[in-house]
Amino acid sequence: MKSLIILLMASIIFFTTNSFAGTDKYEEGEKLYKANCIACHGSTGGMDLKKRIAPPIAAVRMHYIDTYPDKNSFVQAVSGWIEKQDESKSMMRGAIQKFNIMPPISVPKEDVLKIAAYIYDGKLDSPEGFEKHVKEEHEKKGKKPVSIASNKVNKSNTKGIALRINVSDELKAQVSPTDLVFIYAKAINGPPMPLAVVKKQVKDLPIEIILNDEMAMMPSLKLSSFPKVKVGARISKSGRPIAQNGDLFVEKVSVKGGEIISLEIDSIVVK
Ligand code: HEC
Repeated sequence: MKSLIILLMASIIFFTTNSFAGTDKYEEGEKLYKANCIACHGSTGGMDLKKRIAPPIAAVRMHYIDTYPDKNSFVQAVSGWIEKQDESKSMMRGAIQKFNIMPPISVPKEDVLKIAAYIYDGKLDSPEGFEKHVKEEHEKKGKKPVSIASNKVNKSNTKGIALRINVSDELKAQVSPTDLVFIYAKAINGPPMPLAVVKKQVKDLPIEIILNDEMAMMPSLKLSSFPKVKVGARISKSGRPIAQNGDLFVEKVSVKGGEIISLEIDSIVVK
């Protein structure tokens, strides 16, 4: 009996640890970042230039993501930098002037890739006042068509994307007026997190809205930084931000800005 219980316990432990395997890579990247980078790129020193030795890591991400919006090219660019600090490839010339160029860091290649992936989609620490600083910088430079991160701005999306959303006649019977509707824009090859999102209710439909940079969930991930995006709408029965079986949706690739895109919710999520 005793051995049976031990066996049971062992298999429970085995299965629970196994089910976390998917998050290991992310955690490893975070651990490696903390071991190799946080000393200079962390929040110590706050936003006070005199107390900092390097830009906050969130600023690094912001500068790279504008030019390298998809994960692959981002990871390559950041790892390339860690392997060799080549000033001609810098995305942060201002930082080189302020702090001097980053000293060489010796990290094995596979770890570098994990760190870069973590910087791309991890939840990064940023010093207090960082977001405010970014906002002020944007406003200061707002008159010029240049974002703080780079001079590459996709003009078609800077004014936002206008959408008209309705539910198809066939699916109308399946929704109730208080069901939530998520209307969003996402990068095509980028992070799964929406670049802009608005929450409405079925009773608000049909609706015309403009998705723009102000609806960004993160300042470093803006609609205007992506040349092509997907736009869509999903009616959620559960109210959860992640699509569930039975949710109703529509999704289209949008290339052009400046015109109203009509979308009719006509499909059902089957997972
Ligand atoms: C000893 C301090 C120090 C450490 C440790 C450090 N960095 Fe840096 N890093 C800097 C400084 C200073 C800058 C700003 C100047 C520059 O851009 O070279 C910088 C800039 C960067 C940039 C932007 C480079 C550019 O100009 O485009 C990236 C990317 C970066 N660091 C990634 C990392 C990563 C990832 C790690 C950990 C593996 C790391 N750094 C560790 C000091 C450091």
